[in-house]
Amino acid sequence: RFAYVNGAYVPHEHASVHIEDRGFQFADSVYEVIYLYKGKLIDAEAHLKRLEHSLNELDMDMPKSRAAFMVTIKELVRRNRVKTALIYVQVTRGSAVRDFSYPENTMPSVVMTARRVAPFDANVPLKGIKVMSLPDIRWARCDIKTTSLLAASMSKQKAQDNGFDDAWLVTDDQFVTEGTSNNAWILREDGRLQTRKPSHEILNGITRQAIIKLAGQKGIEILEDAFSLDEAKKAKEAFVTSSSACVKPVIQIDDTTIADGKPGLFTQQIAKIYADFLE
Ligand code: PDD
Repeated sequence: RFAYVNGAYVPHEHASVHIEDRGFQFADSVYEVIYLYKGKLIDAEAHLKRLEHSLNELDMDMPKSRAAFMVTIKELVRRNRVKTALIYVQVTRGSAVRDFSYPENTMPSVVMTARRVAPFDANVPLKGIKVMSLPDIRWARCDIKTTSLLAASMSKQKAQDNGFDDAWLVTDDQFVTEGTSNNAWILREDGRLQTRKPSHEILNGITRQAIIKLAGQKGIEILEDAFSLDEAKKAKEAFVTSSSACVKPVIQIDDTTIADGKPGLFTQQIAKIYADFLE
């Protein structure tokens, strides 16, 4: 396995950055996870645009053009001989003597890895997950895809310690924001699909955006608005989306099973629509 570190392709076990890298000390860094499916990079352009958004919000520029990123990603894929994989891309502000304010003229660190995964398959019944609702203790700029992931990590761990697969994060007024690393969706009683609209409270998922578009083309009505935890528990179906999970049914929220506790037919249909798009 090879990783990319600041211009070089190095064996994965030797891939490292400096201890004074601000990504390490301050989580002063942003990232993307791009799905490589059967040799195709899924929505890479949208991911790189979001990377640029994240950087710009931290007063950083893209260290190189989107086209140059694409060249590096493709070379990493080639060297790792992967067909279906998760491409991880991280940009940090670089190394500097430890100080809270931004240092001047640092060289950003750019690192990438490619990890092989099984291809998403919507022709087999999808496995559902159980989610635990937990207070959203993350910061007020979740639209920036930073590597400051401790709150999400703590939440997922807590959910798993309690026998769940993941957490759904909930605001003080009991509205669901998103999962720890995915966007949350419900199928409402009236047949509309609902997911929170983009704001500083969530990451505007690329998979989320793709499914809004694809479902819309199929005539499925979508409501981009916050839903409460209570509404989620009463939903006909629920699922999550992300570049790594694609579409995953949610079959239980806290002690409440969703519908009959089995992955829903509608969710399976959305998964099929997304799988067709991947092909
Ligand atoms: N996570 N919300 C959060 C908080 C996320 O971390 C992610 C992605 C998403 C879904 O975004 P997208 O559809 O663009 O992958 C939503 C990635 C996969 C991760 O951290 O591994």
